[in-house]
Amino acid sequence: MKTLAVLSLKGGVGKTTTALHLAAVAHASGRSAHVLDADPERSACRWAAHAPLPFSVTAAEPDRLARQLQAAGQAQFIIIDTPPNSRELLLRAGSLADTVIVPVAPSGLEIDRLRPTLELLADLQAQREDLDVAVVLTRYNLRRRLAREAEEALEGLPVLAARIRQLEAYTDSD
Ligand SMILES: Nc1ncnc2c1ncn2[C@@H]1O[C@H](COP(=O)(O)OP(=O)(O)O)[C@@H](O)[C@H]1O
Ligand SMILES: [Mg+2]
Repeated sequence: MKTLAVLSLKGGVGKTTTALHLAAVAHASGRSAHVLDADPERSACRWAAHAPLPFSVTAAEPDRLARQLQAAGQAQFIIIDTPPNSRELLLRAGSLADTVIVPVAPSGLEIDRLRPTLELLADLQAQREDLDVAVVLTRYNLRRRLAREAEEALEGLPVLAARIRQLEAYTDSD
């Protein structure tokens, strides 16, 4: 079992879309996946209720997250989707994860606004050296080069080579 937590203090950066995308990628590569929706808005659960997904999505409660993770333990990949603006839940999900994924759109402004999230994660890593943290570029437009200011803002950050493209299907899913 591998646990991924999709985290950012900022809302609307693509956390839920990324969490579901990662579960779909795991499924497509023959691995079982389970999404724990720890956002009280329940966007991942609502998405699953509208479109049949080839993996399960269940609601998670902040105070039961560790037990719910344990209960979902038969899946090869467990992906935790989280709400924005919750330092507590960010630290909780981050402390339970093997890997933290921080989604961000490829614009300098958005990347600059990542700092508070990365600061908090750096503090968590000081306690948990085995925790991997990776930034994933999402809403990425293949036809446009990464803006220079975005490239500069990304310097020194652990950015995944894999990017999530800007897809109409995702925009239309709202
Ligand atoms: N890869 C993508 N391509 C197109 N639209 C996207 C993509 N990822 C996210 N979006 C859109 O961006 C908005 C915010 O995404 P969402 O995953 O709900 O963010 P968060 O969970 O961080 O609040 C939504 O309108 C969603 O449809
Ligand atoms: Mg969300």
